Amino acid sequence: MQSLDHRRLSALAGKSQLQKENLIVPVIVREDEQCGPLNTISINEVHTVVQLIQKSGIRNIMIFGIPKLRDISGSKAWDPEGVVQTAVKQIRENFSDRFNIITDACICQYNQSGHCGILEGNQVNNDKSLKTILSIALSQAESGSNVIAPSAMIDGQVKSIREILDNNGFENVKIMSFSAKMASCLYSPFRVTAYDNSTKTIDKSSYQLSFSNIAEYMQEVELDVEEGADMIILKPTIFYLDLISRCKEKFSIPVAVQQVSGEYYMIKAASNLKLVEEIELTMHYMMALRRAGADLILSYNALQISNFLI
Ligand code: PBG
Ligand code: ZN
Repeated sequence: MQSLDHRRLSALAGKSQLQKENLIVPVIVREDEQCGPLNTISINEVHTVVQLIQKSGIRNIMIFGIPKLRDISGSKAWDPEGVVQTAVKQIRENFSDRFNIITDACICQYNQSGHCGILEGNQVNNDKSLKTILSIALSQAESGSNVIAPSAMIDGQVKSIREILDNNGFENVKIMSFSAKMASCLYSPFRVTAYDNSTKTIDKSSYQLSFSNIAEYMQEVELDVEEGADMIILKPTIFYLDLISRCKEKFSIPVAVQQVSGEYYMIKAASNLKLVEEIELTMHYMMALRRAGADLILSYNALQISNFLI
């Protein structure tokens, strides 16, 4: 196996215009004990981790939360003392405007079903789910988030979030919409880490997209752009580079992408078997995403990658 060559990787990154400003670091904050494969941190660890991020030179952070208690309505998701809200407040107090703090706005970690909306029977009810998402978005803005990232695939959520933010004096808070999410087994490590025990293998194909329907994918993104999204974020990534390119060509707002947990683990697992070098392959991955048109990349490897970037 080839060993890491710092200068070679840095040169490669430069050629592909991969820079620290393109990266977003995910931070998963939990109230309870660590569970599952993905690294999560407690509220007490937020300060140290954010100091590390500050040292890395990356300015974009996306906060995900895992509550201790789940209920039917996912009420901890809009609790002003909730795990995401508390983390955001703390980061704002200690680091002022140093970071763009992006907050994941969804309820699947907070309810008992693991679904991204409120269920009525077996179906996600759009109107009820929308109300919930609005409460979440507002509470996150109130705690100091400057980018709300709705990820529930609920129709009309971008327009309604824009309205509620504007009506409450948060005109400057931006919306990064998870516009097009494929139904995918690549989310599995995240679900095992973040969801209630009984719901780690649920099927979201009634509201997440099918990789066989490109028209629907583009339509979902277009709707969000029309509704006033400031940025879009697409996931997963590596099997959908063509769609990332299409979005970059078609829409004039920034395109972000999320290398999801299964994509991260494909490389990590091969690396653990000593078959590939994790950081080298991940760098190639990030460069491919840049080439496809991604302006911003959310990756569980963001911090490690930043060592090679300017
Ligand atoms: C849902 C959500 C998902 C992820 C984070 N929030 C997708 C899903 O489970 O449906 C996955 C992230 C990852 O795999 O890294 N709102
Ligand atoms: Zn969700």
